[in-house]
Amino acid sequence: KNIALVAGGYSGEYVISVQSAVTIENNLDSSKYSVYKIIITKESWSYTGADGKVAEVDKNDFSLTLNGNKIRFDAVFIGIHGTPGEDGRLQGYFEMLGIPFTSCGMVTSALTFNKSYCNKVVAALEVVNVSKSLHIFREQPYNTADILQQLRLPVFVKPAEGGSSIGMSKVKTAEELQPAIDKAFNEDCQILIEEFIKGRELTMGLYRSAGVITTLPITEVVSSKEFFDYEAKYTPGVSNEITPAPVDEDIARQVREASTILYNKLNCKGIVRVDFIYEESSGKLYFLEINTMPGQSENSLVPQQVRAAGKTLQEFYGLLLEESMK
Ligand code: DAL
Ligand code: MG
Repeated sequence: KNIALVAGGYSGEYVISVQSAVTIENNLDSSKYSVYKIIITKESWSYTGADGKVAEVDKNDFSLTLNGNKIRFDAVFIGIHGTPGEDGRLQGYFEMLGIPFTSCGMVTSALTFNKSYCNKVVAALEVVNVSKSLHIFREQPYNTADILQQLRLPVFVKPAEGGSSIGMSKVKTAEELQPAIDKAFNEDCQILIEEFIKGRELTMGLYRSAGVITTLPITEVVSSKEFFDYEAKYTPGVSNEITPAPVDEDIARQVREASTILYNKLNCKGIVRVDFIYEESSGKLYFLEINTMPGQSENSLVPQQVRAAGKTLQEFYGLLLEESMK
């Protein structure tokens, strides 16, 4: 089967996407799949052959022409974090063309990619606690004094649509708020300001295959930084990621149950990773976010969880691909 593995993208997560694609490509069974890695940037959607020749994708039908032969794809493995691979744009395009792909569909991707809209929907589902937050738009007036009246410090300020903690700050004092807002607005025209929940950070991948949802082992992230920022996420040793998480079975069960309900209610497909904070003082589990294109780099969480589950990445990526083509 001809498989397109798309990587790159238009956002600051380009580099991580390229790393994810290396892991995916190295672990797709070459006896079953002919994999064509296509790098998508604003300037070009291109494939570089082993001979160094570069071919551009025909966007009318997402095909490649190599040495005069037109190649059509049986499925696309999407490996792009951020826009346009995680926010529904490519999903809508492939849905229009009728080409199967490995991620959530357009609506789920777009909804969950916006942290603010996603929080509102998740809160309405009443399956897990959601921290109090405000959604602010660059074009609409806001006032930091009002924000500080409505939310208790510390807060997190995040671009509403982003990933890998890019543009994100933890704000502990009133003076730090405006610079944090400016930083987040550099990345996106809408931002989320969310009350910080002190607790243990737990995260878990889950996917559906042959009609059954499988939850992977939970990871606890213990960061030596103020939060699990870009450096802590991708520099080995800066954070300690423990899989399976050393938590009581009751907490683990809550994480699995909440994630599974969200997976179903949000109509997820493929591998999704849900991040939580467990507040020990209250015993409450809080939803942080849902990642519909979780990182697959060597240092990323899902590959660690797959290995901890006793599966190979080759089996795992094979399951995702086969499920997409059903
Ligand atoms: N946004 C990064 C890639 C993640 O969620 O793993
Ligand atoms: Mg994320």
